[in-house]
Amino acid sequence: VKGGYETFMDKEIHDQPAAVADTLRGRVDERGEIQLDEMRIDPAVLRSVDKIIVIACGTAAYAGHVAKYAIEHWCRVPVEIELAHEFRYRDAVVSEKTLTVAISQSGETMDTIQAIRHAREQGSRVLAIVNTYGSTIAREADAVLYTHAGPEVAVASTKAFLAQITACYLLGLYLAQLRGHKWPDEVADYLAKLGEMPDKVQWILDEQESAVRALGAELADRSSFLFLGRHVGFPVALEGALKLKELAYVHAEGFAAGELKHGPIALVEEGLPVFVIVPTPRRPTLHDKVLSNIQEIRARGARTIVVAEEGDDAVDAFADHIIRIPATPTLMAPLLTVVPLQIFAAALAGAKGLDIDQPRNLAKSVTVE
Ligand code: F6R
Repeated sequence: VKGGYETFMDKEIHDQPAAVADTLRGRVDERGEIQLDEMRIDPAVLRSVDKIIVIACGTAAYAGHVAKYAIEHWCRVPVEIELAHEFRYRDAVVSEKTLTVAISQSGETMDTIQAIRHAREQGSRVLAIVNTYGSTIAREADAVLYTHAGPEVAVASTKAFLAQITACYLLGLYLAQLRGHKWPDEVADYLAKLGEMPDKVQWILDEQESAVRALGAELADRSSFLFLGRHVGFPVALEGALKLKELAYVHAEGFAAGELKHGPIALVEEGLPVFVIVPTPRRPTLHDKVLSNIQEIRARGARTIVVAEEGDDAVDAFADHIIRIPATPTLMAPLLTVVPLQIFAAALAGAKGLDIDQPRNLAKSVTVE
């Protein structure tokens, strides 16, 4: 069942190229236009949407956070990320012109179920991005866009996360096309780049995994880690920290890199391991700011573990460890940059002798509020 891997998490990390490819498959017609058969919401309604609210918990919410950057850029519609349990019990502003997007691997998360019911009561249509066929969220939503990640067994989510992000890109491009912000040839161009992502994920597994695993084992005695990212690297930093908390039971915190000087830099001390997700050098305004952050924390003694594009030599001077990812458009980078963070967390927990597939106190599906 584990396909020759020691743990389900290991297997599922290696399933990720297929999870992305399978989520893309069959959703683009011969004219290069996106067709979402599961989209049972009237296109006229989708054209009139003036706000998107993403409802989710945990890792699924971080996928939604990535979606915000892509959908706002492509569709020029405001996107808000709402943790389901926070959304439900305050007076959130929802109307018939709000599209609610619920993201859930299990489709059974009670917080998310309650939140979508609440959104529907206020006239919002609900589109579910779900991995489990026939689950409660899939049944209750107006439309479903399934992620085809296959069953996820390990409690810590990995391949479902990549599939959720992929589905969000499809949704964003679909809406952009429908609302006239993108033409079929532009969409086709993005889709072609998305189609390259499974091979790029595979490259990371082939070329970077063993070094990242060794680093996880080496740092197994540490009790605190920071993760910094900017733009789409920010939710990836949050996800990297969550994986480490869940699996290795150590303090790990993700920050927006720009927030560093507003407080968190006070935490930096000699030897503290800090992961930094570096944006592509082809976006110098973003890249150079994160590069300065690395210099600032290095000067204060941090051990810097840098995730950077191949060929980005500017990081070499300030990185104690460099993890490479293939060059890729900024918006799609999370599909790559998160992979080493998953591997690192699993390796560190493995070195501590912990149960990677069944971390303490956690359940795969949280069916109570
Ligand atoms: C993290 C993790 C949880 C889930 C969250 C939502 O590794 O597994 O944070 O992502 O409980 O679960 P679903 O996606 O099933 O709604």
